[in-house]
Amino acid sequence: MPSLLIRNIGTLVQVEQTPRPYVAGAAMQELPVLENAYLLAENGRIIAFGPMAECPERADEVTQANGRMVFPSWCDSHTHLVFAASREAEFVGRIKGLSYEEIARQGGGILNSARRLRETPEEELLQAAYERLQEIQRYGTGAVEIKSGYGLTVDSELKMLRVIQKLKTLTDMPAKATFLGAHALPPEYRDNREGYIRLIIDEMLPRIAEEGLADYIDAFCEKGFFSVDETARLIEAGARYGLKAKVHTNQFNCLGGIQACVAGGAISVDHLEVVNDEEVQCLLGSNTMPTLLPSAPFFIGGHYQPARRLIDAGLPVALATDYNPGTTPSGRMQFVLSLACIKCRMLPEEAINAATLNGARAMEQEATHGSIAVGKAASFFITRPMPSIAYLPYAFGADLVERAYINGKPVAAKR
Ligand code: NIG
Ligand code: FE
Repeated sequence: MPSLLIRNIGTLVQVEQTPRPYVAGAAMQELPVLENAYLLAENGRIIAFGPMAECPERADEVTQANGRMVFPSWCDSHTHLVFAASREAEFVGRIKGLSYEEIARQGGGILNSARRLRETPEEELLQAAYERLQEIQRYGTGAVEIKSGYGLTVDSELKMLRVIQKLKTLTDMPAKATFLGAHALPPEYRDNREGYIRLIIDEMLPRIAEEGLADYIDAFCEKGFFSVDETARLIEAGARYGLKAKVHTNQFNCLGGIQACVAGGAISVDHLEVVNDEEVQCLLGSNTMPTLLPSAPFFIGGHYQPARRLIDAGLPVALATDYNPGTTPSGRMQFVLSLACIKCRMLPEEAINAATLNGARAMEQEATHGSIAVGKAASFFITRPMPSIAYLPYAFGADLVERAYINGKPVAAKR
């Protein structure tokens, strides 16, 4: 693949001489940058960067950044971007006063998406998901995690995971697949919880492992969904097949899900709208990445994640979109950063660290993604003109990504 040189970068953001696995606590405020810089890529990898004074003379392809900023691609470690249909009727229901949980109890919510997904052919799901994937690439995402969890039968969960497997072959960015059979109890098992858990453990997991369809296992640990004990069993069952856990927990209630995930060696605990002191302490002694999804409470109402408490206690946090039809019909990381700053009181530098390096860590991609470092993937974006780094979360709703690159190749332009 030809070499690519980006010249005259005004600010090259998140540069690392010695790559770090993640950043935590006070260090999250530090965002290393290089002013007036170049970036050189070859074969899809970064091979050099530095001050313009040391810029190489030539490359196969040369792009002028004209003083614009360059950021490493966003690492969106939590999405459900394979789904059959949007759910704006529930959106209107909430405007009229129904809560997310009430809608779920009435058979809407996740079960609504599951009904639609079961009827939708694999090819149609793939086409729609591929468009969403291309859309997020244009918005600067360069690594992603995608969950199943709208199938809730053996065949439909496998169908979703096969769609994700195909998506992996259609994109140059790393895409991680997470098996979320325990997203909601399907109606056929309403009076037989244990039967559904056994279906996941005895039938779904072995098939998924045999076909190599998942990288991680997830569960929705919440009142009305799956208990802490059930979540712990699922984490353990996943581990028997080499699947580490990334778990939805603490969205509405503190039930002990975080403790179960830490005990099970989970890669991440995601949502965390509510977190108590004991849980903060538990996370402090762990390798589990707290992953905040502020567009969920933005969209369905509720508490924003207590990012300050987590970071001030010394923890790392990651930010992700949660792109899904129920709680976040949007895959725009830049808007998530705005919410993190405006509603969770994260500083712009903290939000950028959370959406790059720590997001990469939350899906084990930190060795190749999340920063501008020699040897890492040449996945980055050039911004529109911006007066400062803080302008990026400040200008909420704006699209400040001018040109995105994945592995040194430009992402197709916006339509
Ligand atoms: O992360 N809370 C659980 N799962 C998704 C929403 C699923 C849905 O409503 O379709 C989430 O918010
Ligand atoms: Fe989610």
